[in-house]
Amino acid sequence: MSTVDWAAVRTDFPLLSREVNGKPLRYFDTANTSQKPHVVIEATDAFYRLHNANVSRAVHTLGSEATEAYEAARKSIAAFMNVPANSLILTSGTTFGINLVAYAWALPRLKAGDRILLTRMEHHANIVPWQIIAERTGAVVEAIDLLPDGSLDLNALYAAMNDRVKLLGLTHVSNVLGTVNPVRDICREARKHGITTLVDGSQALPHMPVDVASLGCDFYVATGHKMCGPTGTGVLWGRKALLDEMPPFIGGGEMIKEVRFEGTVFNDVPGKFEAGTPNIAGHVGLGAAVRYLESIGMANIQAREAELLAYATVKLSEIEGLHIFGTAKDKAAIISFAIEGAHAHDLATLLDLEGIAVRSGQHCAHPLMHYLGVSATCRASIAFYNTHEEIDALATAIQKVRKLLQ
Ligand SMILES: Cc1ncc(COP(=O)(O)O)c(C=O)c1O
Repeated sequence: MSTVDWAAVRTDFPLLSREVNGKPLRYFDTANTSQKPHVVIEATDAFYRLHNANVSRAVHTLGSEATEAYEAARKSIAAFMNVPANSLILTSGTTFGINLVAYAWALPRLKAGDRILLTRMEHHANIVPWQIIAERTGAVVEAIDLLPDGSLDLNALYAAMNDRVKLLGLTHVSNVLGTVNPVRDICREARKHGITTLVDGSQALPHMPVDVASLGCDFYVATGHKMCGPTGTGVLWGRKALLDEMPPFIGGGEMIKEVRFEGTVFNDVPGKFEAGTPNIAGHVGLGAAVRYLESIGMANIQAREAELLAYATVKLSEIEGLHIFGTAKDKAAIISFAIEGAHAHDLATLLDLEGIAVRSGQHCAHPLMHYLGVSATCRASIAFYNTHEEIDALATAIQKVRKLLQ
């Protein structure tokens, strides 16, 4: 039984006490971006007020303080993921991390006839970079189907694996269906065929304990703004041996040891992949965010969100004409739904008038929408800072707007 005082935790988030359209805000869009606790806002603010300088360059006191703060953040984030800090690249987000692997790992290696396996539940960030690489190398992109409950068809996935498959890119948790993929088992199978694996942890790392080292993947990416951190932050962990042999993705300052017009010697990992001035204050904020999440406990967060998901699923299922997409047994706190006869955007717009924020549309997952046979869904995504009372308000508001739209 968790001893966390969830009402007190909620007060850590200043924005959650505001009103929208004259109603208390009820924020159900954490899968899009999470709200930020005081400690994160204060950490970024304090960096600019007290320590602001560029990193790894200046010998003056502020320069050293900024570098220490940035590297301390890297250590905190690495510890949170259970990976060594020297193989953790700080990025602008998941999209950048996947593109880095696509251009620096896949582009030089893949050739005509090679196969890239993805799943039907991927976000565009884990589809489009691979299509670009396939176009340039002659490799082919294939998508593994889903079962009716929104879980991955593991039999189909395992049957598709062979030594022509060079890369498997899959999401840890679907941003639309909430499905949690059995990443450890999948990576073990992939390894047997010599397949390199990239896991998109955008919707997993903020919501459950993730021991990246034990997953058996080759690359793990995530984005900071969905885990209580600032926008424009993110992480790419890769196996050190792979990162060492990869060429840089972006060239510029700080990713080099020595530059001559005759040739350049690149920096060691992770510096080799962090050209230019990074988002220093943002990553200092992300360091504060992971320490904050750890202070609550990721197992507590996971249990709290599972409980809220179960409660919301019952409440929403009671609504006539409401259909939920994604009912996998292992599911994170994301509920995508549609209501017969109501367009998702109309529904979300009317819910906003009730102070309720849900996302509507295609959730950067056009192929999945197509596969599900829908043009759009509404998505209520739940975080540990949501409450049962807010879920009641969501269900009541959906009932109300359903009547208006029919
Ligand atoms: C599963 C998944 N992958 C990738 C992304 C892209 O993240 P970002 O836009 O922060 O790069 C998202 C964001 O919605 C996501 O949910």
